[in-house]
Amino acid sequence: MKLVTPALVSLSLLAAVQPAWAQDAASLLAETRKTALPVLPKVVQAMQTAVKEQGPVGAIPVCKEKAPQLLQEMRQQTGWDIRRVSLRTRNPATGTPDAWEARQLADFDIKAANGAKPEQIEVGEIITATDGKRSYRYMKALPVAEVCLTCHGPSDLLADDLKAALAKDYPLDRATGYAAGEVRGALTVTRPLLGP
Ligand code: HEC
Repeated sequence: MKLVTPALVSLSLLAAVQPAWAQDAASLLAETRKTALPVLPKVVQAMQTAVKEQGPVGAIPVCKEKAPQLLQEMRQQTGWDIRRVSLRTRNPATGTPDAWEARQLADFDIKAANGAKPEQIEVGEIITATDGKRSYRYMKALPVAEVCLTCHGPSDLLADDLKAALAKDYPLDRATGYAAGEVRGALTVTRPLLGP
């Protein structure tokens, strides 16, 4: 909980002084980054500590509970839809991308394969649906760091007790076989905008 508090405080301040969010692409991008991105290094750090102190099986709750809980808190603070998605999910119930997200994830993979730094890959777009409703959509690549390989690396390198725990909870697991520097998935944000 100690880890969570500063982010929550700054988010509530932001909400308090800024009742109307921006509506233009440049401000939307800046605002979304500023609000949503600080959580990312916190999760990676929590994961590094957990793997070191508790081992792979003991660290599962960081990806399973802590990260979703931090995103849930951000959803409540902002009213935005904020999730994690991947083209190769471990938990398809929560991590499956929609069509727009799948297209961006495929594009992220191409960019990373062509040498872009995964930690710099992102996209932001104002979308107008067929019913005229406008939204701002943003995605930021989640790079595969060394620590992620503990549970998302090649399956023959995963610890036996970890493999057993994953097999039990995730019969549809496709989130192994990654290498460092690839794109594991993305943080995805959808913000409703005012009408045209
Ligand atoms: C200790 C094992 C472990 C480590 C280390 C780990 N993860 Fe995960 N990861 C999981 C588990 C378990 C899930 C499924 C969570 C759930 O039930 O929603 C998951 C799910 C995810 C998801 C959601 C999409 C999906 O596949 O369901 C993303 C994104 C993700 N991990 C990224 C990362 C990144 C990036 C790192 C490195 C910073 C990392 N993980 C390190 C175990 C781990």
